[in-house]
Amino acid sequence: MVLSWGFKPVPVRGRIVRISGPLVIAEGMTGAKMYEMVRVGEDRLIGEITRIRGDLAFVQVYESTSGLKPGEIIEGTGYPLSVELGPGLLGNIYDGVQRPLPLIAKIIASKIPQRKMFIERGIDVSPLSHEQKWAFYQGEPEDKVKLRPGDKVKPGDVLGWVQETEIVRHKIMVPPDVRGKLKWLTSDGDYTITEPIAEVEVNGKVKEITMVHRWPVRAPRPYKEKLEPTEPLITGMRIIDTMFPMAKGGTGAIPGGFGTGKTVTLHSLAQWSSANVVIYIGCGERGNEMTEVLVRFPEYKDPWTGKPLMKRTILIANTSNMPVAAREASIYTGVTLAEYYRDMGYDVLLVADSTSRWAEALREIAGRLEEMPAEEGYPSYLASRLAEFYERAGRVITLGDPERTGSVTLVGAVSPPGGDFTEPVTSHTKRFIRVFWALDTKLAYSRHYPAINWLLSYSAYTDTVEEWWSETVDPLWREYRDEAMAILNREDELMEIVRLVGTEGLDEKDKLVLETARLIKDGFLKQNAFDPIDAFTPPLKQFKLLKMIMDIHRKALEMIERGFTVAQIKEGLGRLYLNIVRAKFTVPNNRLEEIDVLEERVLKALEDYEAKVIIHG
Ligand SMILES: Nc1ncnc2c1ncn2[C@@H]1O[C@H](COP(=O)(O)OP(=O)(O)OP(=O)(O)O)[C@@H](O)[C@H]1O
Ligand SMILES: [Mg+2]
Repeated sequence: MVLSWGFKPVPVRGRIVRISGPLVIAEGMTGAKMYEMVRVGEDRLIGEITRIRGDLAFVQVYESTSGLKPGEIIEGTGYPLSVELGPGLLGNIYDGVQRPLPLIAKIIASKIPQRKMFIERGIDVSPLSHEQKWAFYQGEPEDKVKLRPGDKVKPGDVLGWVQETEIVRHKIMVPPDVRGKLKWLTSDGDYTITEPIAEVEVNGKVKEITMVHRWPVRAPRPYKEKLEPTEPLITGMRIIDTMFPMAKGGTGAIPGGFGTGKTVTLHSLAQWSSANVVIYIGCGERGNEMTEVLVRFPEYKDPWTGKPLMKRTILIANTSNMPVAAREASIYTGVTLAEYYRDMGYDVLLVADSTSRWAEALREIAGRLEEMPAEEGYPSYLASRLAEFYERAGRVITLGDPERTGSVTLVGAVSPPGGDFTEPVTSHTKRFIRVFWALDTKLAYSRHYPAINWLLSYSAYTDTVEEWWSETVDPLWREYRDEAMAILNREDELMEIVRLVGTEGLDEKDKLVLETARLIKDGFLKQNAFDPIDAFTPPLKQFKLLKMIMDIHRKALEMIERGFTVAQIKEGLGRLYLNIVRAKFTVPNNRLEEIDVLEERVLKALEDYEAKVIIHG
């Protein structure tokens, strides 16, 4: 148990004086601490102290408070709201305060059949199995260096590892508050997470170490040093990777009105991205959306290993019908789990759907506390809470030896009412994120998916990931990417003119810009998340597709300079035009040379056409 906030387990006992939805006020709570976890009433509901006034404690309760009465007892636990960290997290489905949903559902089903509720109130279930045995091995998986008794150990040092799932090796590290001399390290063998595997002498006292420890969710886990995110988080989505890239350890937001594709995009990220571990938080969305996640995710395969996706995934579910305070907590629970895997040296992606519903939970609780509301009823600390959340992203050198880097990438959907990006949650979020994928209702209506608007979106990582693309894919990546973006921007300007005077007012070069922009949109930006080939485009394929389109554009520009018209060039392309547009879903990811062949054919066709016209012209 990590007692890093100086908590001493001396439980206080008070009495409930007022109940208002998820908020409970208790008296006689002298000695209670801010953020201390408490048990509320006869049902021992889980709650957390969020404000103290004299001997009054204000408690937000993570379960339904219906039936709770003034006068019932409230009891401190001595600990902050915290999560249990150890092998067995992956593949789980938790609620916002890390209670396992399937297990709880099973327990309820056996006791009260027909009951539809997800979680019985006040039920005590450990987040991790305390019975399951794990094969523990000393040392690092690859590194043969092992710690020996007498060695000095510090937080983050790797004592050993277990194969948590087929995909992920779980490193057993010295917990963040333990520093001293290793007295004993167990030999390789099978252990439960509560059996001691090591002993460390800390200030003359021997401390037992197990494979599990607790960490308070509202406190960021420590690391050695923050690094600049320079490696892209590949998502297989072309408009993201090529135009508005995400970096490992970066922050991003996907704002969009109703039905514009937030959830589909987050699913694609969770499914395809090049992260080692994914945390998916369904936060205040409709129950059926979450049911879809719960049904679909166990069927998906991890594209990078071919193993079931759930072997690298943790789901956190707090749908709109579940207690609102647990929704507020779910973000912190999720990011703490993410930091824990980061500390092992992994790249972790956390997606939250949606941070607007989370902000609404804040607003509801603040309202019950009768706090002075700021913009649109949100509490004045909305911005600082958002900042605190996104600050927990980053690529870091972790604590402990052997030295390793890990990252937490945070992506939140934002659901602005009416798709208005000036509302408080979107506008504050923009201050703290570096990538903005703006979903556009008009694009979604015209079935241009993903409906990410290329004029409103941005990524601050385009420069930082350039070197990676240049070295790993092609030195010309940035040039083609910028050229394509310039055409899309130019098209927008030209459309203004077209709206006023029609295409007649445009010269041939401008007409070509419109044609190429259409090719970029149809052949590159539009991507069907449900097509087996199109859903995921590896970086090299992204480059080749864009290069083909831009090389055709360059060739066409030369022809225009020699007096050809856009209409003629299109005639020269003939039916090949469709092959270009369709290459994204006709060329399989393992036969990319077909794109080179197609490009050659197209350029050859244009040359032949040119020769023919010149001879006959
Ligand atoms: N990349 C995509 N490829 C194909 N279809 C898509 C894509 N993105 C969105 N869609 C279509 O748009 C529909 C709505 O998308 P989604 O449910 O993700 O929207 P949302 O923004 O999460 O909506 P809500 O505001 O209701 O939560 C999907 O059911 C799907 O038909
Ligand atoms: Mg949605």
